[in-house]
Amino acid sequence: MNDMTPTREQREARLEGMGCKRKRVEDIRFTQGKGQYVDDIKLPGMLHGDFVRSQYAHARIKRIDATKAKALPGVVAVITAEDLKPLGLHWMPTLAGDVQAVLADGLVSFQNQEIAFVVAENRYITDDAIQLIEVEYEEQPVIVDPFRSMAPDAPVLRPDLAGKTVGAHGPRKHHNHIFEWTIGDKPATDEAFRQAEVTIKEMISYHRTHPSPLETCQALASFDKIKGELTVYGTFQAPHVIRTVASLLSKIPEHKIHVIAPDIGGGFGNKVGAYAGYICAIVASIVTGLPVKWVEDRMENLSTTSFARDYHMTAEIAATKEGKVTGLRVHVLADHGAFDACADPSKWPAGFMNIVTGSYDFPVAHLAVDGVYTNKAPGGVAYRCSFRVTEAAYCIERAMDILAQKLGMDPADLRMKNFIRREQFPYQSALGWEYDSGDYHLAMQKAMDTIGYRELRAEQKARQEAFKRGETREIMGIGVTFFTEIVGAGPSKNCDILGVAMFDSAEIRIHPTGSIIARMGSKSQGQGHETTWAQIIATELGIPADDIMIEEGNTDTAPYGLGTYGSRSTPVAGAAIAMAARKIKNKAQMIAAHLLEVSEYDLEWDIDGFRVKGNPERAKTMKEIAWAAYNSPPPGLEPGLEAVNYYDPPNMTYPFGAYFCVMDVDVDTGVAKIRRFYALDDCGTRINPMIIEGQVHGGLTEAFAIAMGQEIKYDETGNVLGASFMDFFLPTAVETPRWETDFTVTPSPHHPIGAKGVGESPNVGGVPCFSNAVNDAFGFLGSTHIQMPHDAWRIWEAAKRLGLHA
Ligand code: CDP
Repeated sequence: MNDMTPTREQREARLEGMGCKRKRVEDIRFTQGKGQYVDDIKLPGMLHGDFVRSQYAHARIKRIDATKAKALPGVVAVITAEDLKPLGLHWMPTLAGDVQAVLADGLVSFQNQEIAFVVAENRYITDDAIQLIEVEYEEQPVIVDPFRSMAPDAPVLRPDLAGKTVGAHGPRKHHNHIFEWTIGDKPATDEAFRQAEVTIKEMISYHRTHPSPLETCQALASFDKIKGELTVYGTFQAPHVIRTVASLLSKIPEHKIHVIAPDIGGGFGNKVGAYAGYICAIVASIVTGLPVKWVEDRMENLSTTSFARDYHMTAEIAATKEGKVTGLRVHVLADHGAFDACADPSKWPAGFMNIVTGSYDFPVAHLAVDGVYTNKAPGGVAYRCSFRVTEAAYCIERAMDILAQKLGMDPADLRMKNFIRREQFPYQSALGWEYDSGDYHLAMQKAMDTIGYRELRAEQKARQEAFKRGETREIMGIGVTFFTEIVGAGPSKNCDILGVAMFDSAEIRIHPTGSIIARMGSKSQGQGHETTWAQIIATELGIPADDIMIEEGNTDTAPYGLGTYGSRSTPVAGAAIAMAARKIKNKAQMIAAHLLEVSEYDLEWDIDGFRVKGNPERAKTMKEIAWAAYNSPPPGLEPGLEAVNYYDPPNMTYPFGAYFCVMDVDVDTGVAKIRRFYALDDCGTRINPMIIEGQVHGGLTEAFAIAMGQEIKYDETGNVLGASFMDFFLPTAVETPRWETDFTVTPSPHHPIGAKGVGESPNVGGVPCFSNAVNDAFGFLGSTHIQMPHDAWRIWEAAKRLGLHA
């Protein structure tokens, strides 16, 4: 070895593989304004489409008159439900087994519902034409409160379902009822409550909010009449599913549909579903023979495409006097709005809400969920969450605090007492999941030690005494949360979307010079896949990450996959990448054996190539092997070096974390100041610690927004009150607290590289942590539960209710 020979460490560092804080390669174009989003794409002759929307939340449409609009120069078409009827496209199937009006079919069921699609030469003319369309309405009684939805005299919200006593998920109890979903052992749970020494019961609401990505939902459709081919550029988190659904609906053969999701400016669940805008842009392009673009504005985004949450959860825990939990009973009233357009795997009408037993060893549990219709926008998407896991975590983490308060126990100690123990993994939960791995005690202890938990409690006690003596008007809250996520949908036996099984895929192709192009069925919306997927390949195949190009989002080139949401990319596509790389490695080993004239079994892998066991000087790098794969493969072996893997995971992955929030609340102004926020996450093997930290920062910021103010609220007549960033809280750097991050590593035993997802964990754990901090601050004054969101006004009101204002 001479001085120029790189050391093992240098060879490894050069790869920038797993574990490396590799800088995000996509940011080179994003930070220079060179990203290519849907609205950057301009096709020759392109038209613009936009919607006439309903001002009412519930009304019959008596007349639509588009005469004046059609006469406006530059207007090309006005499409209504009547025009879509001959094509059978005036209603569309939802992901949840319901149907949804593409354009209002004689009835509007929520404010801003789409009524007509106006197509014109530019956006300005489109907007002018919208103003010229006359719609005559007959108002109907409105229901916005889900608790009133199933009253005997409640108005019928879905006359199209008249007489249907059975829906996609079983019997319907009432004309506004969608489904009842139950799971768990009810008799055993009821018995646990009968035997219980201590019980708690609380109605815990998770308000309606919205993912509000910075880039709104958009599509550009271009139909080529000569070739009979449709190209759709769109903000799609799951491009292949969009292509399949578009083919099934339009009857255009799937191979003649090209779906391309270019750069996406955030999704957070908002860009999973299929929207009227996509369908109308496609129909308009087919009708006009020209490309048609549809771009939502902010108000349309917040008020029509996919809300999140609106879950009203009545939680009960049974326990012993010593604080050992013995049973959990939860009922959820789920407000799904005007159509059931929840984005959940088909057989899970309430998503993975049955992770509600959380991190605790509940011997028995029972969950019942009733979904109802109201006159609100449809959706029910997993906003930075894996299918209702955020709701479940909020429910159990609030309930555990309420139990601790009743028992007079410290909430961290109560959690420690009830954690699933390390030796219990794989753990079978009372509501049917098999948790893969975890060491909750280790994580919690590390978190408590790091933040100085006992000292903080002592300080809080002293501050409470000072408050009682009238020396201060500030109270201190310590939020404690320990969450377990369930991500990586999913085993296809458990999870499908409209019958499409939820696997994912990767295709890796090594070129003769040893550089790589790799394509996946996932689709980044800012998570940094171009950076991290290359790191997995770099480690697996010994090729530097800088020599690997990652491509996602084009259905013509990427293998079929189910897309990115629910932190499924790393658990599923990440696994497919490792497995495809291993197929290549197997072939590479045969080629190396041929080149080195030894048996394959005499070779071992060494960072960036194969070497002969016991004779490390005789070796071939992956680059050398790649050249040989094309130019001098072993006799009988086909040339080339590439592989595809479709990965159907055997189980979900179960990331977890311990979060702590220290907060000071001014009872006179209701202002809550976050003093500290500490987040310990365990996502198994860490691919890129810097990206993980970024994901945690982003998720915590969204959790802060949701818990402390973000809300889509309606007045009694169904007017949406939170449909602009004037009213909908989107924190800036000014409001956002400083985040402290930490980790433990408990690999997933079934994932090829031991990785679990992480993108959504901070939202799942963050929301209950903020809320527990607010509630903890007021606990010593006799308060049990204050509903979210905790904006200053509501905190001030809570203080008033507790008699703290003169
Ligand atoms: O599905 P989505 O990409 O939203 O979520 P994810 O699988 O949690 O991944 C988010 C980002 O974090 C990706 O760039 C992952 O590669 C990265 N990550 C990581 O570096 N290590 C992990 N154990 C999990 C995710």
